Amino acid sequence: MTKEVKAYKNLPKKVYIRTFGCQMNVRDSEVVKGLLLAEGYKLVDDDAAADVILYNTCSVRQHAEDKVWSQIGKHGNHPNNKIIGVIGCMAQNYKKEIFKRAPVVDIVCGPSNIDNIALYLGQALRSKEAVLGADEKKRKDNIYHTGFYEDKDHAYVVISEGCDNFCSYCVVPYVRGRLRHREHGKILKEVSDAVGQGVNSITLLGQNVSSYVDSGIDFTELLKMVSGIPGIKSLTFLTSHPKNTKQELFRIMAQTPVIKKQLHLPVQSGSDKVLKAMNRGYTVKKYIEMVDQYRGIVYNGKLSTDIIVGFPKETEKDFEKTLSLVREVRFDAAYIFKYSPRPNTKAAAYEDDVLPETKQRRHAELLKLQKEISRSKLEAQSVGR
Ligand code: 5AD
Ligand code: SF4
Repeated sequence: MTKEVKAYKNLPKKVYIRTFGCQMNVRDSEVVKGLLLAEGYKLVDDDAAADVILYNTCSVRQHAEDKVWSQIGKHGNHPNNKIIGVIGCMAQNYKKEIFKRAPVVDIVCGPSNIDNIALYLGQALRSKEAVLGADEKKRKDNIYHTGFYEDKDHAYVVISEGCDNFCSYCVVPYVRGRLRHREHGKILKEVSDAVGQGVNSITLLGQNVSSYVDSGIDFTELLKMVSGIPGIKSLTFLTSHPKNTKQELFRIMAQTPVIKKQLHLPVQSGSDKVLKAMNRGYTVKKYIEMVDQYRGIVYNGKLSTDIIVGFPKETEKDFEKTLSLVREVRFDAAYIFKYSPRPNTKAAAYEDDVLPETKQRRHAELLKLQKEISRSKLEAQSVGR
């Protein structure tokens, strides 16, 4: 890999980071920004003005990856005068293949290696070698304590990394590794420090927050502790998994004024057959019972979900079951996705047999239904005011 490195000498190194994907990635980009600021780099909002461009990428669906490849493609096929880095989930998913497919890329850094980002950047700026870091390890906790948050009022706080659920469609356990929990004391310290610098709203992040446990402190205990930190005005969390979310969580939500009455509980499908093939660990009946409990305990609680259409062998009947679940539950919001096979996952071995046009139609139909529901719920709310 050849690159004219002399051009970087004595320049103030300006870094532009573009984030694709979920809130976890938004937080990871902040972490990287905090680490680079501490090393004397400058952040810029404009890729044209940057010496270093980092793409923090998402692999959750093919579409997310396509967006990144097309963005990288805009830099041309050959190494140029900027340092280009691919960080996050695609870095882990494709490792050194990225250099082959896009020789313009200088750094590939997986989610577990972002604690080394300043090191990699230094190497890329000094040498002519491509730099790769894609191990599966726990991050050093100090990366969460740089005090850098994009928003002066709000902080995302990671409580656990990775995932052990192994839903058959999902790439997360392969790109973010097995489940690791942060120590609760360190989470509390990060929150207290953030509040000390003026943040008053906190979102706790994990792929499945209901699984959190550290030294006997489970998620509901952690919520109580965090909500007790003086100065917090609003506390929320993402994402809850229906297979192990407990009534106790709803009680704490109801009892604790600072906790937002808002639950993101991905259902994924309204068909038990599909849920089983997805390895979700609950039935539609159990999901609906949980929603009833939530709404019974948390007065006026908002509920959102994720749904995948076109999972392998999803028939018209299965899809109709999803429509009727959506009609019955009446979510406040639903994020609806067309299934795409992901490398290494169990479902990647199944035939992707729902035709693209069928996925498109089911997606549009569900979206239309959910839009009507969201609108009518909003109208009812404003009338009730
Ligand atoms: N295809 C489509 N959607 C997916 N999701 C996760 N993996 C896939 C996939 N292979 C969706 C799920 C998840 C959300 C973050 O992305 O609905 O909850
Ligand atoms: Fe986030 Fe999952 Fe996308 Fe990674 S693959 S950025 S964890 S949504």
